Amino acid sequence: HRHLLGIEHLSPDDIVTVLDLAERYVTLNRQPAKHSDVLAGLTQINMFFENSTRTQASFELAGMRLGADVMSMAMQASSVKKGETLIDTALTLNAMRPDLLVVRHPQSGAVDLLAQKVNCAVLNAGDGRHEHPTQALLDALTIRRAKGRLHRLSVAICGDIAHSRVARSNILLLGKMENRIRLIGPPTLMPAGIGEFGVEVFENMAEGLAGVDVVMMLRLQKERMDGGFIPSEREYYHRYGLDAEKLALAKPDAIVMHPGPMNRGVEIDGTLADDINRSVIKDQVEMGVAVRMAAMELLARNLRAGARAEAEAGQ
Ligand code: CP
Repeated sequence: HRHLLGIEHLSPDDIVTVLDLAERYVTLNRQPAKHSDVLAGLTQINMFFENSTRTQASFELAGMRLGADVMSMAMQASSVKKGETLIDTALTLNAMRPDLLVVRHPQSGAVDLLAQKVNCAVLNAGDGRHEHPTQALLDALTIRRAKGRLHRLSVAICGDIAHSRVARSNILLLGKMENRIRLIGPPTLMPAGIGEFGVEVFENMAEGLAGVDVVMMLRLQKERMDGGFIPSEREYYHRYGLDAEKLALAKPDAIVMHPGPMNRGVEIDGTLADDINRSVIKDQVEMGVAVRMAAMELLARNLRAGARAEAEAGQ
């Protein structure tokens, strides 16, 4: 692959390749000297047109730990504010010859479009409600480490599915790896036609959580609700917020996940989120750095192989 735009383009073998390499980076990242030089000489530019804590920080750290020259554009302070378009901004940066471009954008499809215009490898760091592939890969690594496998598990994804790129990428990845997927949420937050993705849909947490291995909670993504119906937070917590009582319906060893940012007391009880016996939320963050290191190394290998092939053809 030249880019990492979405899980939809990956095969089960591709997914396992990323996770196996990421596993090696988990080990490296736990050592005092967390450094490798596999991206030495390469330039990585991060362009985040939407707020981020985890994804931006972990892509930056991932690039630095692999020896790349890393620059994060402060998009709020860029010429986008003077009316420059996404494509003109990308072409401007492309002229500076980066090798890896990491892009987050509020519009679905914007990152795919940008990838068609530039010469470097593009990694999708989240585009609208479309895909967030590295999030699904880090979630997969977290599940595989906690459960010892990534197939034949029953996974509940709960809450605002309709506006969630995290849910979409996870549904694609977990489906490709042959897991049972249950989506739980109010009908107003369930995307139309979701049944076609081979998932079971539940309106009620008690029914949906019964016997699952993994419970993945999602935030109400109000920034994407475009003036549509927004549930009251009190009512939402009562019906869909995960607490110890609702979790008791899942398997006794079920793990609790959340991609962050988390709204305590809205979609999840704060004490449960901090319970290290059930919650793997901090592991997800740690796996994020390792998975992004692996994804960038694999794309860099392809870039170098492409450059070698071009050089040989020109001889
Ligand atoms: N999970 C996730 O994408 O978090 P950020 O928005 O903080 O990057």
